[in-house]
Order: sequence, then C-alpha cells, then structure tokens
Amino acid sequence: MKFFIDTANLQEIEEAAALGILDGVTTNPSLMAKEGIKGNQAIYQHYKEICNLVDNNVSAEVISTDYAGILREAELLAAIDAKIVVKVPMIREGVKAIKYLSSQGVRTNCTLVFSAGQALVAAKAGATYVSPFAGRLDDISADGMALLGQIVEIYDNYGFATEVLGASIRHPMHIIEAAEMGVDVITAPLKALEALFLHPLTDIGLEKFLADYKKSQS
Ligand code: E4P
Repeated sequence: MKFFIDTANLQEIEEAAALGILDGVTTNPSLMAKEGIKGNQAIYQHYKEICNLVDNNVSAEVISTDYAGILREAELLAAIDAKIVVKVPMIREGVKAIKYLSSQGVRTNCTLVFSAGQALVAAKAGATYVSPFAGRLDDISADGMALLGQIVEIYDNYGFATEVLGASIRHPMHIIEAAEMGVDVITAPLKALEALFLHPLTDIGLEKFLADYKKSQS
C-alpha cells in the first residue's frame, strides 16, 4: 500500500518524508490556496518545490474543464517535473483528456470520484489513479469506505491497471479499513499518518523496558 500526504504545506511534506514511509503527495486548488500561493507562476514553482521533497507521485490538478484546456494545462504541469501526476476532474471532458494523456504516457489521477460507475469509466479511459473521496461521502451520511471496497472488487474482476487511491481520508481507521480491502494507495493529512505510529501500550512498555535497563546499570 502506498502512502501519500494530502497537503501543499512544504513543512508537513518534509515531516512526512522524514517518517520514511511516504510515497507521494496529493494537492488540490483548495490546498494550494490554503498556503496563500497566488498566480500561476508561483503555483508552478510551488509544485516544483514539492517535487524536490519526494521521490515520486506529486498530483497537480488542472483548473480547465474543457478538453483542449485540460490538455494544455496537463502539458505545462507534466513539464514541471517527471514526478508530476496530472490530476483531472471526473467530468466528460476530463475522461476524454485522461484517455488521450494515457495514450501519450502521461500519468493521471482522476479526482472527485463519488460512485463505482465513475471509477469504472476512469479505469476504462486508462487513468493511473482513481480518487474516490471517502470522507466527503461520510460527511453526507453515505458509506465512503464501502465505495472503496466496491471499486477494488470491480477493478480486480477485470484486471484494470488503474490504482485505487483512497482520498479524503480523515483518520487512521480509514487507513486500516482501506488496507484490509486491498486499496492500493491512500492520501491522508499528516495527523492521520502519524497516528498510525501510536499505541499507549508501546509507550508504557518502552518506559518499563528503559527503567529496567537503567536498574541493571546501577
Ligand atoms: C484528494 O486528492 C483530495 O485532495 C483530498 O483527499 C480531499 O480531501 P478533503 O475531503 O479532506 O478535502
């Protein structure tokens, strides 16, 4: 299972990379705005800085919603760095663009996926990743994790190469459930990734081991 961090904050990316378990980064226009980055030049520069912090897989999202515009932006984004994965929204024009980009060897992440039908279409178009938003479905009292399981099953049935990227992951149990289902990748905030390291019995156990070791030294 790959771990991506869902942020455009350079410090958080550095911290996650230092954990030694990070495989990539996902961003979106809202996350970029949160960092106060203004203007295309600054946005592209910021993507480059993110790429410098990780080994691979930096999702950068297009803003265009028409086929020609998406392809134009995809070309610019892909030129920033070989680590860039072009993030394209799950709309008709987006799917057409994904089909073309995949034929050209450009990696894509089909984003804003909320149904199995959308995921099926994205895989048929050759998306590298498909991003179902689990947390946002939970927010409207739907079952986000059930959708992830459904997509894994459908892709397995047909051997689609598209990887299921569980997105809008909010807490460690989302990650565990996704792992149980065989989800290929999750993208989560730093807090959720860090929470995977923690257990109170580990802390208690370590404290006792260290105390006992100290006794053996006196
Ligand atoms: C996915 O790539 C999105 O950036 C992200 O996971 C959305 O998460 P949110 O619902 O917490 O905004």
